[in-house]
Amino acid sequence: MVQHPQETYLYDPSLLLKLDFHRTPATFKPFISAANPGEPWMKVRPLKDTDYDRGFLQLLSQLTHVGNVNRTQFLTRFSQMKASGDYFVTVIEDTRKNEIIGAASLVIERKFIHNCSVRGRLEDVVVNDTYRGKQLGKLIVVTVSLLAEELGCYKMSLDCKDKLIKFYESLGYVLIPGNSNSMTIRYDEGTPLKRNATSASSSSSTGAGGDSCQTVSLDFAS
Ligand SMILES: CC(C)(COP(=O)(O)OP(=O)(O)OC[C@H]1O[C@@H](n2cnc3c(N)ncnc32)[C@H](O)[C@@H]1OP(=O)(O)O)[C@@H](O)C(=O)NCCC(=O)NCCS
Repeated sequence: MVQHPQETYLYDPSLLLKLDFHRTPATFKPFISAANPGEPWMKVRPLKDTDYDRGFLQLLSQLTHVGNVNRTQFLTRFSQMKASGDYFVTVIEDTRKNEIIGAASLVIERKFIHNCSVRGRLEDVVVNDTYRGKQLGKLIVVTVSLLAEELGCYKMSLDCKDKLIKFYESLGYVLIPGNSNSMTIRYDEGTPLKRNATSASSSSSTGAGGDSCQTVSLDFAS
């Protein structure tokens, strides 16, 4: 059993208690919020430096490839994120099991435009597969979306697969006609420009199996 005498939050947890879940278009039945997630054993909170031992990376591996990240690497990345002040990795913990069961990240991007405003990007949304279908996906996405507004973002956007558009639309995100394409160059899969030229000529615009990505946005302008 690993002891955690002193734990550090990635960001101030009291920020989550301020969020007004009546502001979201999402429907919660029954009503839940970050402050009251509906079960006494469930906690919505910022990532902690000790979450390496609560299965945080194993949860992320249900979303994508994580790799063999050791404790030192995890703690180094955690410290870098905390020092920057722009990373709001948020988790749901099952405190009965000492296990992270849901996560989503808000990343703040600082701009010169819009009077040196800031925008939010929603990244790495995942709920443990044995807990899906119980509103936790909505809970974690709405939490970081409201947090983005609380932190002064003028908008929040994300990339998702076609099949999740309806899920995000139910939470207030919209596909902006003519301006919701997601484009990528990968640097971890060989020569990027050459590879993209090949894939562009061999796949349709919607991608095989409906796996294409689109960008959806949440606009906070009043
Ligand atoms: C997407 C995900 C986070 C949803 O979590 P969840 O806890 O099951 O979501 P909820 O219980 O809050 O469901 C919310 C609604 O979205 C719908 N929904 C959830 N997952 C869906 C999916 N994969 N495809 C289509 N609809 C989905 C639900 O049917 C539900 O609809 P309802 O409100 O009308 O009943 C979860 O399926 C997941 O972790 N998937 C794997 C990782 C992933 O794809 N992440 C998103 C990257 S953009």
